[in-house]
Amino acid sequence: MKDKKIAIIGCGNLGLTIAHGLLDDGFNAGNMIATRRNTKALSHLSDKGVVVTSINTEAVEQADVIVLAVKPYNVKPILIEIKDVLDSNRQTLVCLATGITLNELEEWSGSTLPIFRAMPNTAADVNESMTMICDNGATDEQRKSITSLFDKIGTTLYIDENLMEAATILGACGIAYVLRFMRAMIQGGIEVGFDAKTATAIVSQTMKGASELIIQNGTHPESEIDKVTTPKGCTITGLNEMEHAGFSSALIKGIVASYKKIERQ
Ligand SMILES: NC(=O)c1ccc[n+]([C@@H]2O[C@H](COP(=O)([O-])OP(=O)(O)OC[C@H]3O[C@@H](n4cnc5c(N)ncnc54)[C@H](OP(=O)(O)O)[C@@H]3O)[C@@H](O)[C@H]2O)c1
Repeated sequence: MKDKKIAIIGCGNLGLTIAHGLLDDGFNAGNMIATRRNTKALSHLSDKGVVVTSINTEAVEQADVIVLAVKPYNVKPILIEIKDVLDSNRQTLVCLATGITLNELEEWSGSTLPIFRAMPNTAADVNESMTMICDNGATDEQRKSITSLFDKIGTTLYIDENLMEAATILGACGIAYVLRFMRAMIQGGIEVGFDAKTATAIVSQTMKGASELIIQNGTHPESEIDKVTTPKGCTITGLNEMEHAGFSSALIKGIVASYKKIERQ
């Protein structure tokens, strides 16, 4: 990816987090082209040397990797708009839009270029995205190149396309579930004596620590829980009270409800 040019088409919430993550990782700003209709909202990127334009075809012509970061309903019209300037010998297309299939992308682009679907999350902004990827039969080299791009903004996992909707729920929506959990913990922390700022600091680092325990030790959450639950102690008393109130059940039901909703869309 080192000298490749990337065009981020539709640089809104997610597109910006990717742009920020790549730039923070040392990606050459001069090799990045960012588009949206309201280019004023991207002036901080042009200040850093990113090429900013509202003309998608102009961005695509310059790029080796084209990242479609627009809303799902904008994907087809934009592909129709840029299809004549796509170069299947040189370019790779990556679509981040929820629910748009590889078949649809092939059909709408009318091109034989390698196509990837990627599902990052907004933690890309701080280079901690969990990104799931699938493709329409790319070569190992093309896969390596796209994986290395998303590795810059976090961790990347290759999955089958039929798991892409599940990946959206667990990884992309997952950010919101975890943040709502953190908010609840902060509210509890305030009730037991901390001001909001201190409670937020404690909860954030505790959350990070718990994640790192699982990531670095490769253990199951319950075995780490066993280490902090003294018999008759305050931790198990609190945990059991949460379960009586439906804690795990609420989370699982929420995830399944989100999944059913995405399947219906
Ligand atoms: N947010 C997430 O956590 C997340 C995670 C994974 C995947 N996704 C997917 O990522 C995509 C983008 O989501 P988002 O939350 O970033 O949406 P968003 O903030 O609305 O960003 C989309 C951007 O596209 C621009 N746009 C619209 N029409 C355009 C056009 N014709 N040419 C160029 N730019 C155009 C819009 O800016 P202007 O109005 O200025 O043009 C807007 O800023 C969605 O398909 C979503 O399914 C999101």
